[in-house]
Amino acid sequence: MGAKLTQALRDREILLIVGGGIAVYKSLDLVRRLRALGARVRVVMTTAAKEFVSPLAFVSLSNEAVHETLFSATDEQEMGHIQLSRRADLIVVAPATAHLLARAANGLCDDLATTLMLATDKRIVFAPAMNVRMWTHPATQKNIDTLRSQGAYFVGPDEGEMACGEFGPGRMSEVEDIVDKIISVCAQETRLPLPRGVQQCPRIIGNDLIGRHVLITSGPTHEAIDPVRYIANRSSGRQGHALAHAAVAAGARVTLITGPVTLADPPACQVIHVESAAQMSAAVEQALPADVFIGVAAVADWRVVQADHKIKKEPGASAPVFTLVENPDILASVAKSQKRPALVIGFAAETQNLIDSGRKKLIAKGCDMIIANDVGEGSEVFGGANNEAHVIMRDSLQSWPKMDKMMLATKLVELIAQRLSPEGANR
Ligand code: CTP
Repeated sequence: MGAKLTQALRDREILLIVGGGIAVYKSLDLVRRLRALGARVRVVMTTAAKEFVSPLAFVSLSNEAVHETLFSATDEQEMGHIQLSRRADLIVVAPATAHLLARAANGLCDDLATTLMLATDKRIVFAPAMNVRMWTHPATQKNIDTLRSQGAYFVGPDEGEMACGEFGPGRMSEVEDIVDKIISVCAQETRLPLPRGVQQCPRIIGNDLIGRHVLITSGPTHEAIDPVRYIANRSSGRQGHALAHAAVAAGARVTLITGPVTLADPPACQVIHVESAAQMSAAVEQALPADVFIGVAAVADWRVVQADHKIKKEPGASAPVFTLVENPDILASVAKSQKRPALVIGFAAETQNLIDSGRKKLIAKGCDMIIANDVGEGSEVFGGANNEAHVIMRDSLQSWPKMDKMMLATKLVELIAQRLSPEGANR
């Protein structure tokens, strides 16, 4: 084999879905061949496949855990099924039984194999294997047409004598032919086009923050004037909540301390609801230590010396005058704290001299990163869906174009993962 071909699948990841058929024995050899060509192979077996061969055989040949069930607590913790289907460059289904093809063509997702096929954003190569009558049956042929029209590729089946004694098309292709098909598909773009209305995040986050504790403040604070009135601001909490989502997706343990917002609590994180800056400050202190602190909340700089009773409008009396007291600066306190996280990140909402003001805030508050955004008239950052950010660090500056707040959160989490040293995780 020439040097070029031996490199053909280097650094490629193939997700091999193994269906239940006698051709399973060829799939064992397929794993060996793909690995010899430099590919990483992750195997998913259907329940029927396990009737033919033990998962252990695939574990030995792939040198990876074999995934079998949709609801595996271990798998979900280590790598959710969505990621399993997304991080691969290509999905190969071999043997692809008539039943697997039918379920894939009809969008059924009642086990791990079919869920992965439905959730994937990559091309699928099917290597069918079945009885000749099953293969030629109009129902199967219709399923094949459907899958082809969705961008799937097929290799085989070959013609020959079948295990059941009949002759005709239905035998799974030889391993060499399946490998050739995989190489030729991998040489092209294996990512499927984005469905209408779906946006691509900068990168599907891996488990980069596993074992890390990320502490986030989000939303506005409400500062009481009296028992019924308060001072607030226009922060919606969207950016902070999006960051909580993104950090959870990257495997972090997330504590989200949020002021009053109308958003639902992001799943899989600890959410602490507060109203005032003082409450937020106390909750943050309690939640430390953390590996990362991200202050996204629009914390009120001042609070009112609160009246114990509702302020009444007395006829003829002049308008009340409020005395303001400065609130604790949560970001600066975290940066100064004995329990200082490895990364302390603030947001700076500015209306002018964005980068200069952001740099000043970075120094004054003692943090490692300031995300400066323009909240001036027309920017629609406050309460809006998009954000345009300048990421100011002590040693560098990155200016990111206007993007969806979730996308910005994903990019930021990616940057955080890069900046964190591997040591010092606070579990
Ligand atoms: N912040 C905080 N506690 C405060 C005020 C602000 O933790 N009492 C944090 C915010 O969460 C944000 C950063 O500090 O991450 C910057 O907030 P910003 O309001 O822009 O800065 P201020 O220090 O309030 O300065 P100014 O409003 O004068 O620009």
